[in-house]
Amino acid sequence: MNKTLETAAQYEERIASAVKSVQDRTNLRPKVALVLGSGLGEFAAELIVTEEIPYSEIEGFPVSTAPGHDGKLILGLLDKTPVVCMKGRVHCYEGYDPWEVVFPVRVMKRLGAEVLFVTNAAGGINFGFMAGDLMLITDHISLFAPNPLIGPNLNDFGTRFPDMTHAYDEELCDLIRDAAFDEHVPLQEGVYVQVTGPSFESPTEIKMLRSLGADAVGMSTVSEVIAARHAGMRVVGISCIANAAAGMTKELLSGDDVNLTANEAAPLFTRLLTGSIRRIGEAV
Ligand code: HPA
Repeated sequence: MNKTLETAAQYEERIASAVKSVQDRTNLRPKVALVLGSGLGEFAAELIVTEEIPYSEIEGFPVSTAPGHDGKLILGLLDKTPVVCMKGRVHCYEGYDPWEVVFPVRVMKRLGAEVLFVTNAAGGINFGFMAGDLMLITDHISLFAPNPLIGPNLNDFGTRFPDMTHAYDEELCDLIRDAAFDEHVPLQEGVYVQVTGPSFESPTEIKMLRSLGADAVGMSTVSEVIAARHAGMRVVGISCIANAAAGMTKELLSGDDVNLTANEAAPLFTRLLTGSIRRIGEAV
């Protein structure tokens, strides 16, 4: 067998083993998959938890090493909606290959999730944003990060050339807008650009990203969105603007400050997320 095909087959087997590791511990079949980004783990407390599994106990699962990322898969109910929640994610900058970064998304799809809800802490590029703002992601720029679909296509998941015209589901975005309105949570909207990190951007890179149409920048999320869309999942996302991007203020950037601001925004963020997932759970 040719090596790349063998690798794809092994990868698929690893997904099946990971799914089995989870299903051996719970029969909850999630409808919504949620990825909680840096400093945003607090939402997990809203769930009636059925099972909490450290990534290290799921066969073949990549383990998060980034600060602010707990590294647990939590399965539970938000009211009647069964949710699988990643408390912490993995990133390319940790040394993971792009197809490993999206491995958990594929596992959550196989567990039954039809919707992927992504969240992250991001740098604000738009001059109208302030640290602590929440931003509904309406589109993305993926061209500065390695595409997670590079390599043999996983035909059982999706097509070789998936469309990204409507990556962020309009109907579900409307439900988030409704939740923000009802919960009195101010909500910005914009385009998220993924870069690899781990160094923060230079001020000139931020000017460039702004001129390309980006409103917020971060080191995650788009890879997961691409894999989810490849697999036919409906996607929505919210960024927590943790800082003004490089060069926009006199402040220097630090990972600790990003996590601190995300933590401060967590109560508002949790309110928005809870209202949004309630609505999404009823709609799908
Ligand atoms: N740049 C990249 N990633 C980030 C930032 C930033 O300014 N803030 C939080 N994640």
